[in-house]
Amino acid sequence: MNHSNFIIAPSLLSADFSRLGEEIKNVEKAGADWIHVDVMDGHFVPNLTIGATVVRSLRPVTQLPLDVHLMIENPERYIADYAKAGADYLTVHIEAITAPGKDAAGALNKIRELGVKPGITLRPGTSVEKIFPYLKLVDLVLIMTVEPGFGGQSFMQEQVKKITAVRNELARIGHQALIEVDGGINPETAKECREADVLVAGNAVFNKATQGDYSTNILNLKKAKLK
Ligand code: DX5
Ligand code: ZN
Repeated sequence: MNHSNFIIAPSLLSADFSRLGEEIKNVEKAGADWIHVDVMDGHFVPNLTIGATVVRSLRPVTQLPLDVHLMIENPERYIADYAKAGADYLTVHIEAITAPGKDAAGALNKIRELGVKPGITLRPGTSVEKIFPYLKLVDLVLIMTVEPGFGGQSFMQEQVKKITAVRNELARIGHQALIEVDGGINPETAKECREADVLVAGNAVFNKATQGDYSTNILNLKKAKLK
């Protein structure tokens, strides 16, 4: 799949939590393609964010796909909740579904059975080959370019080669899935991710203090795909 422009998924983690609905409407008007929702449980990552109840409340606010990134332990227990809440993509961490006694393929299949597009992701320290056996079960592969847990961290350059590795493996097995990158994305680092399809961006979209308005920020990210 080769998009001439990036799909831009602003991460709500950097939005104003006192008015999330309004923030979604504003980035939608500004040209966002998806809305990225970071779910953290205080165990898989040190931070604690939002649950399925919030996703359900945000669902009627927008027509854009809700791209839900589960940074939680035992994600299989919560898949049905987030599916019912209205997630369009549900991405789980390989580290959380492959612990001893777990059924990783079962978790990904369950997401699809519930009518949601399954995604898989990995921590920066996890080797990319770990996700290869599951690629044929997913519609989205998320490459983390920061340690999951917080917005506003610096882009980890050495993770970029995972984009190429996934792109090559998808071609080898003849499977189509979107490749997304998340963490420290700005118009400069986005240029290094041209092989990806989707950019998640928190600070680079929402941080008005250091950047432009939402539409300028989103346009600058989209343009980074063009040589
Ligand atoms: C980090 C989250 C990211 C984060 C990105 O754990 O998964 O989605 O919000 O924020 P920025 O773009 O500011 O690095
Ligand atoms: Zn995320």
